[in-house]
Amino acid sequence: KKNSSESRGALIVLEGLDRSGKTSQSTRLHSFLDGLGYSVESWRFPDRNTGVGQMISSYLANESQLDDRAIHLLFSANRWEKRRLSDKFAAFASSQAERAASRRASILQIQEELLGFGDDEIIGFLKRLDSHVKGEWAMKAAGISLMETKLRTGKTLIVDRYSYSGVAFSSAKGLDIEWCKAPEMGLLAPDLKAAERGGYGGERYEQLEFQRKVAKSYQTLRDSSWKTIDACCPVEDVEMQIREVVSDCVVTCEKGKSLSQLWS
Ligand code: TMP
Repeated sequence: KKNSSESRGALIVLEGLDRSGKTSQSTRLHSFLDGLGYSVESWRFPDRNTGVGQMISSYLANESQLDDRAIHLLFSANRWEKRRLSDKFAAFASSQAERAASRRASILQIQEELLGFGDDEIIGFLKRLDSHVKGEWAMKAAGISLMETKLRTGKTLIVDRYSYSGVAFSSAKGLDIEWCKAPEMGLLAPDLKAAERGGYGGERYEQLEFQRKVAKSYQTLRDSSWKTIDACCPVEDVEMQIREVVSDCVVTCEKGKSLSQLWS
């Protein structure tokens, strides 16, 4: 059985200028999907909780100064670090992949052993090691990212900013766009990119002139696969526009759609 026919959650990315209302819209979208019975998780970048995230946060608050390229790479690193599964699981998965590949253990045996792990999502993922897929899943488990694990266990992820912010904001400072894209290569490509148009303050980037440049950079990145949401209308209208595009996307992913990587 090919991955393309596996039901999975959707990777939904919300992009836009600062103060375009993405954060409150992602909360609303979360409740909406939750209400429909989907299993949903909300992420945001930058994730300020990690070590790298704290460096980013202090830069944004003008508490530290960094070279434009250095901060660009930190934003990117912040996305890569979120790929990581726990060391314990990664070690387990690779040993199981080996056992399954050499047929020393049946998938059922591996599933049994997983029960000692305690992390529901990881268990959920490996429970899908049906005998018909043989060692394939276990093999994948060894190299799979946290994001991919979540999606494949049926979780839909709503991500407030992603690589497009990374490229749009840094290239707005004058950095070469291809250079900006390079460190993002290999991260998962979203199933839906919704860009909010419209809607600034205290943080480093919140100046009108700079936001105009960012808007231009977003234009360069945007292709026909992006859904543009007019964020100037009332919040409820914006919410409805988002619901519409997201509903189609989650259904497509539920039916089975293959995952791809940036920049495809
Ligand atoms: P936030 O307000 O959504 O937390 O984002 C903080 C700022 O960081 C915002 O101005 C956009 C900018 N940013 C980048 O420059 N590069 C990135 O990769 C990301 C995720 C955000």
